[in-house]
Formats: sequence, C-alpha cells, structure tokens
Amino acid sequence: MHSETKLLAGGMTMLSIATSALVVIPYITVRDIKAPESLKPYTSAELRGRQQYIANGCIYCHSQQPRAKSFAPDTQRGWGRASVAADYAYDSPHLLGTMRTGPDLFNIGARQPSDQWHLGHLYQPRAYVSASIMPSYPFLFETKPQLESGDIEVKLPPGYAPPGQLVVAKQEALDLVAYLKALNHTYPILESAAAPASAVAR
Ligand code: HEC
Repeated sequence: MHSETKLLAGGMTMLSIATSALVVIPYITVRDIKAPESLKPYTSAELRGRQQYIANGCIYCHSQQPRAKSFAPDTQRGWGRASVAADYAYDSPHLLGTMRTGPDLFNIGARQPSDQWHLGHLYQPRAYVSASIMPSYPFLFETKPQLESGDIEVKLPPGYAPPGQLVVAKQEALDLVAYLKALNHTYPILESAAAPASAVAR
C-alpha cells in the first residue's frame, strides 16, 4: 500500500511537470503577443478561403513557417524571413503544417500576386509547372460554352480548357485565392520580437 501511494505521488509530480512545460509555460509566453501593425485581420472572403484551404487538405503538402537561417535555407529559397509568433496572431487554428511536398506558402501572396495564375494553377497545376505533383482541383470551377454576367473566366495556357468550353471560377476558388494572396508576411519585424519567435519556429 505504501509503495502504491509513492507511485501515485510520483506519477502526479511527473504529470504536473509535463503540463507546466508543455502547456502552461508556452501559454504564458505567447498570450500577450500582439499582432504586428502591418498585419491586417482576414476579411470574410479570406476566412472562407482559409476554410477551403483546410477542407482541401493543402496543409498536407504545404507549410506556413519559414525557418531561421541557422535551421534551414528558407530565406535563400525565397520564402521570406523566419516567422515570429506575432505573425500568427489572427490564425486560429494555425496552419503551420509539417510537410513540404510543395513550397512554403507563408508569403505566397507577395511571391505570386496574380489571381489568374492562382486560379489556373488550382484548376491544373501542370499547365504552369509541367512536372508538378500537386493535385488539380477542377471541382472548384465550372465549364460552360459562354460566360454569364458576373462570371470570372480563367485564362488557361492553350490546350488546357476542355474543347469548346470556358473555365469559370466558383466562389470557393475565388475565396481560396483571396486567402492565398493575403498570405503576405513580408513586413519587417524588430529583432527583439524575432528572438523568442525563432526559438518557437524551431
Ligand atoms: C500532394 C501535395 C500537394 C497538395 C495536397 C497541394 N499542393 Fe500545392 N504544390 C505542391 C507542389 C509539389 C508544388 C510545386 C509545383 C507547382 O507549383 O505546382 C505546389 C505548388 C503550389 C503553389 C505555388 C507555390 C510557389 O511558390 O510557386 C501554390 C500557391 C499551391 N501549391 C497552393 C496549393 C493549395 C491552395 C492547395 C490546396 C487546395 C495545394 N496547393 C495542395 C503540392 C501540393
């Protein structure tokens, strides 16, 4: 009986140390971090696009966390400075991702600001990058023989639209592209803000 009490006490001690280290201390560290001034809250279209990003599994191949120079050559890859905790102030849940089958998208809005490129690339990635292994998302588009009012046509490279048909973006595709274009964290951050965050990014 005596040793069972010790076992229980030991277990509880370990559990409280682990909870403090993994839950309480990280929470206290980031809870007061404010969004940088240059970071705008998402618009409702961007938020709907974010839901599309989640629903279509983009996170399974794309990260949103450029890392510090000491950790990975992400800056040389053109993915931007290492992200800091404040960059994610409006992200709930965050979409950091763990896989990089495709490039990091944290600054895709700055790198690729063209709506038409994004729409066409979602319709058929191989129309733009011949060896791309990214899936196509044709269900985010409609095809029709002629445009109706309000339609946004996707101007694909020759040969990629079904013969005699025009490709028109559905609202889901437009929202998703609005979200991708909002992914622009190229504003400068203070070194003091960067220090703890590059630790978090690791
Ligand atoms: C199976 C893995 C996979 C999935 C899932 C995936 N992608 Fe990709 N993505 C890639 C690869 C590989 C590339 C690089 C080749 C290319 O540009 O097509 C890429 C490239 C991109 C690019 C261009 C990046 C750049 O730096 O030029 C964007 C934007 C993009 N993906 C968005 C998305 C979105 C949005 C979704 C979800 C609807 C998605 N991807 C789902 C693999 C994936």
